[in-house]
Amino acid sequence: MTLDDPTRFAHVDRRRTRDVLAAFPAQCREALRLPLEPARTLDRPRAVIVAGMGGSAAGGDLAAACAVERLDVPVLVHRDYGLPALVGARDLVVVSSYSGDTAEALSAATTAIARGSTVVAVTSGGQLGALAAEREMPRVTLPAGLMPRMALGYLLFPLLTVLRAASLVLAGDGDEEEAVAVVDSLAPDLGPEQPTATNEAKRLALAMRGRLPVIYGGPATGPAAYRWKTDLEENAKTFAAAGVLPEMNHNEIEAWAGPGAEARHLVLLREGEERPEIARRFALVRELLGTRAGGLSEAWARGRGRLARLLSLAYLGQWTSYYVAILRGVDPWPVPTLDALKGRMRDAA
Ligand code: F6R
Repeated sequence: MTLDDPTRFAHVDRRRTRDVLAAFPAQCREALRLPLEPARTLDRPRAVIVAGMGGSAAGGDLAAACAVERLDVPVLVHRDYGLPALVGARDLVVVSSYSGDTAEALSAATTAIARGSTVVAVTSGGQLGALAAEREMPRVTLPAGLMPRMALGYLLFPLLTVLRAASLVLAGDGDEEEAVAVVDSLAPDLGPEQPTATNEAKRLALAMRGRLPVIYGGPATGPAAYRWKTDLEENAKTFAAAGVLPEMNHNEIEAWAGPGAEARHLVLLREGEERPEIARRFALVRELLGTRAGGLSEAWARGRGRLARLLSLAYLGQWTSYYVAILRGVDPWPVPTLDALKGRMRDAA
C-alpha cells in the first residue's frame, strides 16, 4: 500500500489529525507565550513533581529529561493517585491535565493542597480549571479542542514557564526558540504531501509495518522512545515496546534470543554527541540484534539543545504513528476503549 495517495488520508483520517500534526510547530510557538496567571514568582522548591497521566505526563517526561542535565532540584513525574510520601510544603506540584477531568491528577491536586505544597495547574479547564479558579491557584490555561497526546507543545512549554517562575531554568538561552525552529523545519518534510522517498516518517511506518515496533533510546533520548510507544498505541491502536540503553543491555537484550524476534522491528533513537560508551553500546545492539530482528531503523535527533533533540524525536514519532494508523486503516484520533474505561470509572464513583 502506498502512503502517497491523498484519498487514503481523507478516507481513514476522518478527524483530520494530519492538520493538527502539521500545526504542531505553531502550537509550540503559541505555548511558549502562554502566561502563568496571575503572573508571580514562586518559591524555589526542594523538588518539583509533575502530576499527570498519559499525554499530560509526556511534557513532564521531557522536562524531567532536560532537568537531569541542568538543575540541582529533582523533577519527578508522578502518574498515580495521591502523591509520593516525600512531597510536602517545600515542594512545587504542577498538576497537568489537558482535559482537567482526570481522576488521578485531581487526586494529586487535592493531596498537594492538603500537604501545603505550592500547586500550579496546567489545564484547558474541567474540574482542575474550576479548582484552580476557586482556590486562586497559579495556573496556565491551555487552548482546548485537541486530543491531549496531540497537545504536547501546550503540555511541555508551560512547564518551563512555571519552573522559570520558581527560579529554575530548564533550557539555556535560545533553546526554546531552537526547539520550535527545529520542529518548524521538520514539518514540511514529514507531512502527507512529502512523498515516501523523502519522508522519514512514512519510511519508518512502512518499515515497521506488520511487526511489533520496539523502540530504544539512550539515557537522554529514552523519554522520546516511551513517547513513540504510547503514540503508536493510541494513534495506531497497536502494541509497541520501548526501552532505554544502557539498562536494556542488562535484561531485555536476552529477550531477543527467544523465538519471534523476526516479528519485531527495532528502532534506535540516536543523537549526535552521545558519550562514547553509549555510541559503542548502540553499535553492539545493532550488531547483536539487527540480524535477529525483522528489520532495524535508526532515527537521529535534530538540533543542538536537549529540548530540540527530544522534541524533534517526539515529532517524528507522532508522524510515524500517524502513518502506521493510516496503513492499518485506523482513524488516529479517537481512543474509544480509553474513553469507555474513563466513563465506567466515573459511573462507579
Ligand atoms: C488521549 C491521551 C490520554 C490522556 C490521559 C489523561 O489523547 O493522550 O493519554 O492524556 O487519559 O487525560 P488528560 O490529558 O485529559 O488529563
